[in-house]
Amino acid sequence: MNKENDRLVMTGMRQEDEDMEISLRPHHLREYIGQEKVKNSLGIYISAALKRHDALDHILLYGPPGLGKTTLACIVAAEMGQNIRVTSGPAIERPGDLASILTNLNAGDILFIDEIHRLSRAVEEVLYPAMEDYALDIMIGKGPTARSMRLDLPKFTLVGATTRAGRLSAPLRDRFGIVFRLEMYTPEELSRIVARSAGILGMPYDDGGILEIARRSRGTPRIANRLLKRVRDYAQVRGDGHITAEVARDSLNMQDVDSLGLDRIDRAVLSAMIEKFGGGPVGLDTLAAVTGEDAVTIEDVYEPYLMQLGFIMRTPRGRVATPLAYEHLGKTPPAAPASAQEETEQTTLF
Ligand code: ADE
Repeated sequence: MNKENDRLVMTGMRQEDEDMEISLRPHHLREYIGQEKVKNSLGIYISAALKRHDALDHILLYGPPGLGKTTLACIVAAEMGQNIRVTSGPAIERPGDLASILTNLNAGDILFIDEIHRLSRAVEEVLYPAMEDYALDIMIGKGPTARSMRLDLPKFTLVGATTRAGRLSAPLRDRFGIVFRLEMYTPEELSRIVARSAGILGMPYDDGGILEIARRSRGTPRIANRLLKRVRDYAQVRGDGHITAEVARDSLNMQDVDSLGLDRIDRAVLSAMIEKFGGGPVGLDTLAAVTGEDAVTIEDVYEPYLMQLGFIMRTPRGRVATPLAYEHLGKTPPAAPASAQEETEQTTLF
């Protein structure tokens, strides 16, 4: 069983999120909340490309899931006044699949490839000349008489998205002219996103209710909008439909999402580190084994937020739980080890 897919605070896309995301998705850069640096740069690049009547450079968006990579790609297309073709790394199985997508593009189109790190090497190789020279090299025939033919492609913009830029091959990464890292959202930004969504969906709310949802959304708009829906259900059954701080708190506590958005699995990861390994350092695989979670899931899904909160640190010898993690779980952090104290004294001495 994949526990991650059962979590209310999972970052990946659920079926139930899809319709909601489409209806709530901002269509213009000015409606997009947060990611200020990305928005400012993107705005300039888009205006410049429009002035030159040229296609935008290829763009790589990376960062944890649920932060709005697809939304941004759609905004780029809308702002450029062009069409977007949406696909993903795993959906493009063979080089021929990509060739067919590329030959069906029109000049100026945006091609969005989600999870681009999951393209096979053979497919990636079709992408290189397409990105660099807007050309498709096809082999005709087999064996000694085989020859390659070059087809021209329309000038398009590739927007690639990945949860981890480190997993991309260097030749692919180097072919993106624009690279943006998306950051987790602050509670204030998430409050504005939740208020916007509640407004669009016609839900009555007060500021306290919105902030309570924002604080528990792990810096992620996708989670914020999902929690908003759950709180609305609760507000309609237990209250008068208004989203107040009390309704949001009671509803999310009932669903095991705590005041910082941690759920049972996050707390299990932290508890295992603290109780079984004295706070660490503990290796990722060991942590995976004792919590029954997949190591990649821990690294990609749980850790980014726990690190953002300052609850976990990555050290060369493994993961370490910080005093903040102890405090959040209501435990007393251990006194600093003697060796750490000595180190500090040494540093002061010399
Ligand atoms: N909905 C989801 N993400 C959003 C964002 N960054 N701005 C506005 N609405 C959103």
